[in-house]
Amino acid sequence: MLTKAPRGTKDILPKQSYKWHYVENAVREIAERFGYSEIRTPIFEHTELFERSIGETTDIVGKEMYTFEDRGERSITLKPEGTAPVVRALIENKLYADAQPTKLYYITPIFRYERPGAGRYRQHHQFGIEVFGAINPAVDVEVMHLAMSVYKKLGLKNLELRINSVGCPKCRVKYNELLKQFLEPKLDNLCGTCHTRYEKNPMRIIDCKNDSCQVQVENVPLMLDNICEECSSHFEGVKKYLKIIGIDFVVDPKIVRGLDYYTKTAFEILSDEQGKKGTLCGGGRYDELVKQCGGPKTPGIGFGMGLERLIASLETQGIEIPKPKQPDIFIVTMSDEAREKGYKIIAELRDEGILSRIDYLDRSVKAQFKYANKVNARFRIILGEEELKNETVTLKDSLTSINEELTLDELAIKIKEKLGRA
Ligand code: HAM
Repeated sequence: MLTKAPRGTKDILPKQSYKWHYVENAVREIAERFGYSEIRTPIFEHTELFERSIGETTDIVGKEMYTFEDRGERSITLKPEGTAPVVRALIENKLYADAQPTKLYYITPIFRYERPGAGRYRQHHQFGIEVFGAINPAVDVEVMHLAMSVYKKLGLKNLELRINSVGCPKCRVKYNELLKQFLEPKLDNLCGTCHTRYEKNPMRIIDCKNDSCQVQVENVPLMLDNICEECSSHFEGVKKYLKIIGIDFVVDPKIVRGLDYYTKTAFEILSDEQGKKGTLCGGGRYDELVKQCGGPKTPGIGFGMGLERLIASLETQGIEIPKPKQPDIFIVTMSDEAREKGYKIIAELRDEGILSRIDYLDRSVKAQFKYANKVNARFRIILGEEELKNETVTLKDSLTSINEELTLDELAIKIKEKLGRA
């Protein structure tokens, strides 16, 4: 146990971390391009925030939260999603009073006690965005466009954007009655949890992961066929703006999403390889959530994009991720005295922004060269008795195979010149 990470978690090792940096840089660049600013909220919040916002009949609140009592006997929960904490921060810091819309993005770990499987972790990471204060369907499409732009920038192909409308509290009352009528004769074949859902929130039954419940909801009446005028015209607006900017989409009336706060637009982005089980991105509108959490009525919309799944898709599609920077120079030293001098030189070169390495393991000269090859250092110099005496070195360029005699004073300037960083 001591030397094993908890089930469903994994270390991001140096072999992978450069891919994360690349993806994180890309999402930040796109978020900024669309006018979003970063928000960082704590890793944990009061449990009540998630219970109220995500909904008590959801799998997340029902069985997936990492909840514990802290030493002050407060119930605390590790972030099981990113939206509710941002809503809490919006209310607490009165961000809704700034010029609207408020456009925020985040990169955060998320904790859910799920059954670990392909692309399913107990700690995963999401890039997410949230926009507050605008009800125009053009904003819904901006949010979808931003997600698609991230994938485009990274070169990911074979994606499908699926959209739906899950209605609003107004149309949901009528729809829930319809659903209950449809489900009543099937109650005996539904799981225990779905019985509670039937009473409290029948729409959740459509999203039940139980196969036998799935069979029962095959021909279920759809929300999309029962939405009110206002939701319908909003949905038409979303489709119109998607067409205006030429983003392909599929209407999927079965999208329910696993969180209760959604109103009107709900969407998911799937990739061919991962299929339905590996949704890359999910989001939607939540016009009631800010009010529900104690703030003024403020519409909102956003998405969460799974970063583990994104990186897995990049790997499956064979998309090249630029390798981390290699050392510019390795200083091979032939004696203790040379090592001391070399140590001073790399300190000066590093101050000049040159990626510099030296041996710390008392390797032989041959082994130092071998190591310099292994770490792919472009330049090498040898420091021996002769070099120390004359204060000159031979700069060996492994890229061009050109050797050049230099004084130690010229070293940094010459390297920067050759690297085009002068
Ligand atoms: P979500 O659909 O629960 O939405 O999660 C968003 C994305 O996170 C998923 O599409 C998936 O890529 C990734 N994801 C979810 N669970 C796991 C897991 N166990 N392992 C690996 N990846 C996972 C939300 O969380 C909403 N807060 C999104 C949102 C923001 N809606 C509006 N604003």
